[in-house]
Amino acid sequence: MSSNDILPKLVSLTKRRGFIFQSSEIYGGLKSAYDYGPLGVELKRNIAAEWWKHMVHEREDVVGIDASIMMHPSVWKASGHLAGFSDPLVDCLNCKERFRADKAPQMEPGTVINWVRGGKSSGEKIGGTVGTCGYICPHCGSSQLSDERQFNLMFKTSIGPVDPLDQFLNEIHDKQLSRAQLREKLEEAVKSSAIYLRPETAQAMFVQFLNVQQTMSMKVPFGIAQQGKSFRNEVTTEKFIFRTCEFEQMEMEFFCEPGTQKEWLKYWTETRMAWWQKYANNKSAFRLRQHEEDELAHYADDCYDIDYQYPWGWDELEGVASRTDYDLTKHAEESGVKLSYFDQQKNDPATGKPGVRYIPYVIEPAAGLTRACLAYLCDAYAEEEGVDAEGETKTRVLLKLHPRLAPFKVAVLPLFKKEGMPEVGRKIVADFFKAGINASYDDAQSIGKRYARHDEVGTPYCLTVDHQTLQDNTVTIRDRDTTKQERISVDRALEVVKERINNS
Ligand code: GAP
Repeated sequence: MSSNDILPKLVSLTKRRGFIFQSSEIYGGLKSAYDYGPLGVELKRNIAAEWWKHMVHEREDVVGIDASIMMHPSVWKASGHLAGFSDPLVDCLNCKERFRADKAPQMEPGTVINWVRGGKSSGEKIGGTVGTCGYICPHCGSSQLSDERQFNLMFKTSIGPVDPLDQFLNEIHDKQLSRAQLREKLEEAVKSSAIYLRPETAQAMFVQFLNVQQTMSMKVPFGIAQQGKSFRNEVTTEKFIFRTCEFEQMEMEFFCEPGTQKEWLKYWTETRMAWWQKYANNKSAFRLRQHEEDELAHYADDCYDIDYQYPWGWDELEGVASRTDYDLTKHAEESGVKLSYFDQQKNDPATGKPGVRYIPYVIEPAAGLTRACLAYLCDAYAEEEGVDAEGETKTRVLLKLHPRLAPFKVAVLPLFKKEGMPEVGRKIVADFFKAGINASYDDAQSIGKRYARHDEVGTPYCLTVDHQTLQDNTVTIRDRDTTKQERISVDRALEVVKERINNS
């Protein structure tokens, strides 16, 4: 199976099996917005829980926060998002599609090319040459393009009972104003109540640096972690849940002493890479890529991407950036609050006296949670030729999700809906629920179909209650990946499943 074929199959499987639905589907859907269904939300929460355990609960030097999505507009002025968080936008004059210049196919300026009028699949061919911009339309291949203009990615809304449009109309009433003056008045009216949906979770960790450091008596080096929704008005949303306007991030800001950032960057890139690979079948589908000098964000002195080999090729999954003291410095300047750290253990190099004050440097591992769902779904998707319960050769579709990520850890399947089998099955499921382990009780259709269904949603273990169960209190435990079955005592079922999950 070519890796390119996986994406449409995954889109279909995740819809059919209750992982991911198109948002507002009954109204024709909202472009590139998705809802996580009953199994999708479990997968997403399991990934988030593993991240939180690894980044917060298992460490003394990292604590978490959960900040509001709406923040004071000055946050975005200080961080540079208001002025510079934009993508270069271009309109194709041939097919009328809009695209990002920096993601468009590159070509030598002056190259002679052809495209179809209107961007149709066939029709009149037009010739032209690639302009000095050195790219063409990614949709129709045309070089007839508008100039680039910067498009800010932040979603703007207004807060409070003020209607900026009313304010604007009152302002301009009875006035003869030019287009430029009208625009100025409109911008003023909107600005007075403007507020932005956060485009990253990171800024709250900088803004709350002092509160967290002081209330928790944190000593540098330490980190603040956060998971949550972020919003970007992306010019092009693409590739299923890879790039969407609403998404979830898992970010951590690690504050360290200036001069130690190189070693912490190495530590965090290696730590994060190992975390991703721990849950993957194909560990070689993850790679580290250092940013070129000209790729670095304005705040970074070094940066690595953790890339995943998606069906369309290598692309970003997480960025691990060395952000210097840029953010704390900018927020201190904008707010007038000193965002520094007093290290009592060190001597001041200037005076030789104990104690030194400095602005910490920051290493930031910034991962996408919704993108993690896509990467692990791609990693897990498998098709295997095999013989089914009725002896027929069939292609078995399965999600080889890591047991810790799988929505259901176990499915309990009574062979028949009679002879006391359902009662035994329900009792086993209740024991799993009590232990906090997500289990599915499934008695619909033949046993073969039930195994196939649970293979497809990634359930690592199936427990089957059969006639023998009623005689000797044993069940079969079937392994999703090997399809091997063995008999275990009902009394040990919970312990066996727990042990296997813990050892996975
Ligand atoms: N605070 C730094 C920051 O936000 P980023 O590289 O822009 O850095 C971090 O975002 C991660 O968030 C990305 O590696 C990606 O996994 C995820 N991400 C960013 N934009 C996204 C989008 N539009 N849709 C889905 N995930 C996105």
